[in-house]
Amino acid sequence: MKNYITLILAGLVVVLAAVLIGVMVYIQNQPAEVRAVQPLVEIAAMEPDSAQWGINHPNQYDTLMKTATNNVDTTYGGSSAFSWLERDPRQVILFAGMPFSKDYNDDRGHANALDDVNETKRLNLNVDDPKRTPGTCYSCKSSSNPGLWKELGMEAYDAMSFVELGPRVTEPIGCANCHEAETMRLIVTNPALEEAFERQGKDWTTFTRQEMRTVVCANCHVEYYFKGDGKYLTFPWDMGMKVEQMIVYYEEAGFSDWVYPETDTPMLKAQHPEFEFFTAGSTHYEAGVSCADCHMPYVREGASKYSTHDVHSPLLNPEEACGQCHTNTEYVVERVAIIQQQVADTKISAEDAIIDAMNAIKAAAAAANADPALLDEARKLHREAQFMWDFISAENSTGFHNPEYALEVLAKSTNLARQAQMLAAQSVNDSSLLATGTFYENK
Ligand code: HEC
Ligand code: HEC
Ligand code: HEC
Ligand code: HEC
Repeated sequence: MKNYITLILAGLVVVLAAVLIGVMVYIQNQPAEVRAVQPLVEIAAMEPDSAQWGINHPNQYDTLMKTATNNVDTTYGGSSAFSWLERDPRQVILFAGMPFSKDYNDDRGHANALDDVNETKRLNLNVDDPKRTPGTCYSCKSSSNPGLWKELGMEAYDAMSFVELGPRVTEPIGCANCHEAETMRLIVTNPALEEAFERQGKDWTTFTRQEMRTVVCANCHVEYYFKGDGKYLTFPWDMGMKVEQMIVYYEEAGFSDWVYPETDTPMLKAQHPEFEFFTAGSTHYEAGVSCADCHMPYVREGASKYSTHDVHSPLLNPEEACGQCHTNTEYVVERVAIIQQQVADTKISAEDAIIDAMNAIKAAAAAANADPALLDEARKLHREAQFMWDFISAENSTGFHNPEYALEVLAKSTNLARQAQMLAAQSVNDSSLLATGTFYENK
């Protein structure tokens, strides 16, 4: 009898403990704010003005506003918007014939996004020019967008010119780019992301909260292109999200961003594929770490604990950004320095190889006797080499988000560039076109 009572009591304790753990896990999984405060004002759906949201959530608003004035640099990144063209003059050559050779600055804080796009020298404001800058360029710069996409539809939005759309895009990046007003949950706001997932058979509304802490950044931090005359914003993910698969996608779509002068190569410009690069099997991604873990760590202010919305280089606050998981913060920051230096050096070797290939193709294309098939094959490899290099170069972490993958892609890029150079030399039977270091000679 006594045994039964002990058993029943023990059973009860186990059940109660399980319920308690369940409740705690549930609460843990709710955003901090849901656990705490009642809203002061009701926020309209897709409200573009972040200050309105800020009435309910002052900590998140104040920290988001700090991104406007951040100005500290790190070795390879930071917030000063330094010029990549000045830092690495090879890029003036690599982007010759297209707007990035005129103006290419490092990224800075979210609150500056709208000013920076309006002020870049890359814009073509002539609305009658078929090459005019499309309105699509505003897609990742403003919290006015979710409302405009709802009102106009993305097709009509993208069909407008930058100049026409400009007056309607009034706010920099803000709350409405990442949150649903009613619930404050993280959401996909960019129709191009939703459509890319749909074509992959994925439904983002089924993603976990931890997944959304990465996916919300994919509203903008991705590779994309403007499809067709309507400049329809499209992510090239249908064959997969690795760089080789994107190249196949672009090949089949017959897409190129510009034609390289004198070599006549149809080229691709990579954008900022942080999401694809990070999720391609990186150690952190495989361990379940999210973008927000490093870039928006929890901070404490008096009694409240919230996600800092002051998004910038985690090397400026490694105790908060890395210290939550790594006990030896100094060690991991040192690892970042080593990884980035290796990637940056390897990147320069790839650039030198591509420039040698370009010079060989130019010379072969100018000669009367070039074998057209070999020359075309050289152009194809040139296109692929440069896109692979750019995929790593335009990705903003200098390889840190996925170090092994960065070095693999750069090695492939260098190999393709050297093959392109050899084919060009072969096409005119001229071994002088195998010269290396032509960047340094021309300088
Ligand atoms: C494990 C931590 C970690 C994760 C996870 C992470 N990052 Fe980073 N991120 C870094 C570090 C470190 C740098 C390098 C900063 C530097 O060079 O100053 C960086 C750099 C960046 C930069 C450039 C910052 C600058 O100063 O110019 C951007 C943009 C960025 N990350 C976006 C993302 C996105 C988007 C994701 C998710 C897809 C992500 N990061 C995931 C640690 C992380
Ligand atoms: C770039 C995307 C982004 C923008 C812009 C953004 N947030 Fe967030 N926000 C996040 C992420 C990521 C989290 C973490 C969510 C989680 O863990 O579930 C978060 C969390 C929150 C939370 C939950 C509590 C917390 O701090 O973790 C609140 C409230 C919030 N944000 C309010 C705002 C407000 C108000 C604005 C505009 C002033 C804003 N956010 C802008 C991405 C964003
Ligand atoms: C609505 C589009 C959008 C979303 C969503 C977005 N970003 Fe950005 N992000 C940008 C743009 C555009 C810039 C560059 C702004 C500039 O240079 O003026 C940028 C810049 C950055 C930088 C560089 C800041 C600096 O000071 O150098 C980091 C880091 C970053 N984003 C991380 C993230 C992370 C992490 C997320 C997800 C939590 C995210 N972003 C979500 C568009 C977005
Ligand atoms: C949310 C947890 C988390 C955060 C935040 C985090 N890391 Fe990690 N990191 C991990 C895990 C898990 C691993 C896998 C190896 C392990 O278990 O130690 C790892 C591994 C690493 C490695 C070794 C990578 C490799 O491929 O062997 C480096 C370097 C590193 N982290 C740097 C950083 C830096 C720098 C930051 C801050 C910018 C950071 N981490 C933030 C969880 C985290």
